[in-house]
Amino acid sequence: MTDLKNQILHGDSVEILRASPPGFADLVFADPPFNIGYKYDKYHDKKAHEKYLAWTEDWIGACAAALKPHGSFYIAIGDEYAANIKLIADAQGLVMRNWIIWHYTFGQQTKTKFARAHAHIFYFVKDPKNFTFNDEIVRVISDRQKRYRDKRANPAGKMPDDVWNEYPRICGTFMERTGFPCQMPESLLARIIRVSSNEGDWVLDPFCGSGTTATVAHKLNRLYTSMDLSEQYVEAARQRIAEAKGLPIDGESDWTEHAEDELRWLYSENKAPYKQLKASPKLLSLFTAKLNDRLRRSVPYTPQEILDRLGEMERFCKLNAQLSDRVNSI
Ligand SMILES: C[S@@+](CC[C@H](N)C(=O)[O-])C[C@H]1O[C@@H](n2cnc3c(N)ncnc32)[C@H](O)[C@@H]1O
Repeated sequence: MTDLKNQILHGDSVEILRASPPGFADLVFADPPFNIGYKYDKYHDKKAHEKYLAWTEDWIGACAAALKPHGSFYIAIGDEYAANIKLIADAQGLVMRNWIIWHYTFGQQTKTKFARAHAHIFYFVKDPKNFTFNDEIVRVISDRQKRYRDKRANPAGKMPDDVWNEYPRICGTFMERTGFPCQMPESLLARIIRVSSNEGDWVLDPFCGSGTTATVAHKLNRLYTSMDLSEQYVEAARQRIAEAKGLPIDGESDWTEHAEDELRWLYSENKAPYKQLKASPKLLSLFTAKLNDRLRRSVPYTPQEILDRLGEMERFCKLNAQLSDRVNSI
């Protein structure tokens, strides 16, 4: 029997999973070929409709068998087969919790119809009464907090909507790009892995590609297993994981809009002005701990990074105030 723990395996995932013990994974994330003629080095992505559907049934069944009874199962898919995936999963007894739209914002331009800028991400569980869902880790700042400064707002923030806008598709020019044609953003995988598994849990991805799922699982201290038909992809993914330990989740290393919102909100709630934070290491460290606690990034912000960002915001606000004074005096 093949050793699965923390492995990227070369081979057919259905065959490998059928030869493996059932019920080892806490979380499955699957991003199969969409059957739209994508160029992979080994897999032919334009199968006859019936053949593709039969294969989809096979791999969903093999993954469901690999999942523990309390496990969660996410599937990314394009418009062409989204409805089929839902029906196949229903028939196999999986229970849908969300039908997420990933609005990846950099759609490919078209002339004769609207540009497509989304994919579907299904979120299923085996048992609707028993699953892991760490809501507090993925909460985001609410409009009540951010826009209206409403004291009644839940200070823990709100759950993100089921339309995800914050993860752009990995385009050719992105630093994160590994050279693989349809790489998922690490930060998107980080949300799924954080919310639907705990440290030490086991994450399975039957379609490794560039190895995004396994890399993020490794960075977030989960076990991983992934496989691919392509020896070249498998080698590249192993290399990516070997270099990943200690690195932040890509896309979370800078000040994201979300982190900035949280910083601004916490700063306005906190009432200690920038000068005071700068002068008091104790206050700054309390402020830092509060922000990091809210953001739960893989690599927390340092007090200096926070101070620098607040300094920039202060300068920006002052500049804006001077500008509006000048405009008003004209
Ligand atoms: C859409 S890509 C996955 C991309 C991945 N999520 C990432 O972020 O890089 C699908 C991958 O599935 C692989 N594949 C197709 N059929 C397979 C099979 N039966 N077993 C294992 N891998 C397969 C392809 O070679 C391709 O690399």
